[in-house]
Amino acid sequence: SAVADSPPKTTIFYGRIVHSKSLSKLEILSEAALGVGSHGNIVFLDADVASAQAAQKKYASQGFENATVVVLGNFQFLFPGLIDCHFHAPQWPNNALGMEWPLREWVVHMTDPIEASYSDTSKAERVYSALVPKLLENGTTTVAYNSTIHVPATKILMDQCLKFGQRALIGKLCINHRVTAGNGEGSVEEGLSHSREVVEYAKKIDPEGRLVRGCIQPRGATYVEHEYLRGLGELSRNNGGDIIPVQLHMSEAIPDVEYMKKMYPSAPCYAAVYDAAGLMHSRTVVAHAIHLTPMDISILAASGAGVAHNPTSNTCLTDGECMVRELLEHGVKVGLGTDCSAGYSPSIIEGMRQASNVSRHRSMHFDNDKLKLSLEEIIYLGTMGGARVVGLGDKIGNFEVGKEFDALVVDTGLDDNVNVEGFEGNGRALVAKWVFLGDDRSIRKVFVRGRLVAGKDLKESPNRPV
Ligand code: GUN
Ligand code: FE
Repeated sequence: SAVADSPPKTTIFYGRIVHSKSLSKLEILSEAALGVGSHGNIVFLDADVASAQAAQKKYASQGFENATVVVLGNFQFLFPGLIDCHFHAPQWPNNALGMEWPLREWVVHMTDPIEASYSDTSKAERVYSALVPKLLENGTTTVAYNSTIHVPATKILMDQCLKFGQRALIGKLCINHRVTAGNGEGSVEEGLSHSREVVEYAKKIDPEGRLVRGCIQPRGATYVEHEYLRGLGELSRNNGGDIIPVQLHMSEAIPDVEYMKKMYPSAPCYAAVYDAAGLMHSRTVVAHAIHLTPMDISILAASGAGVAHNPTSNTCLTDGECMVRELLEHGVKVGLGTDCSAGYSPSIIEGMRQASNVSRHRSMHFDNDKLKLSLEEIIYLGTMGGARVVGLGDKIGNFEVGKEFDALVVDTGLDDNVNVEGFEGNGRALVAKWVFLGDDRSIRKVFVRGRLVAGKDLKESPNRPV
């Protein structure tokens, strides 16, 4: 029949297209065409085509003859999906609370009690089914989530990500030291088998790892004893040649570093503890990494581990200021995280501006302008940098041909805060205004793997094809 014979649907976006080519190079094409294939992959990005119709003709032989066309208006642009490299899903109800405490006291008063409460799987259902679509609406297409110690609640988080179409890296939290509020595990054997179980579950619900991948998640060296850390390192590496990703906290606050030294007196530095346990490798996401020695930085760089920089959280808990410039100069991968609920904002747009602000404070403290992060750099950190940190640098992060289409249609015209009367700036100025003033109000469409999963347009007309 004609329907069966017709080629699968493809889409062409035409207009302003913005993405990072590198840390310092932000490409802003003003009249470009981008083609998304029927499998959600980017088939072409053409800076030199007169119109969407011309693109349809030019790429007809690649299946675009009957493509859906989205023409972007003057105040609109296509932007890569935002990547949150560090988010604590169970803490979502605590967002914006707890700033009266520093890190350890915050964990004891705010975090351990709420995390322990996820033994109640119905709570996990309620919170996670609200959280995942909320983050998608904020333009976050990929999240590295920390969960709790509970296997059923962790599986529910995986289910919700798959259901709503969000990319995610998810593990079960491992804790067997400094336990309060009952937020700790039984034996090491049990913890290892639970960690294995959630990684297997991710494979079961998403066999090709298209969206959801499992990971290993020791809360940190000061919460997991050495034997357990080593077991987790072995589990990560002895997986038939396919390393299981890792997420952990490191060097977040000075008292935490001091505690690490007491717990591991012979360790030369924090990163060395993880390295000795087999937990530092190219699939490791290291949250915070603030109070670093030169040896910590060398281990980060040599292992290929990536840093999740959480500027809002670090300010709220007065942890310190991550040395992002130095990490980048040493070739360490860096992305952004919100670290909710230690950070109050679930938005990586906010994360980009807070990264800018923290870098500016550092430039004042050290009287060094080079420490400031530019607009180009904060956008890279929130997109391409984050993609590399979560192990997806070859799949997402920008609009390179062949990558999967994770993207936002931003419409600054929807938000009076951004599109101020009388604005006559160029594309870069419009993007700058959005990054520093924008939020979910201006996000019209959110795509993951070419599929429309959130945004104003979806809310208004859920059955729209694009
Ligand atoms: N250290 C131990 N637990 C946590 C947590 O939940 N969030 C952060 N940011 N740091 C931690
Ligand atoms: Fe955290």
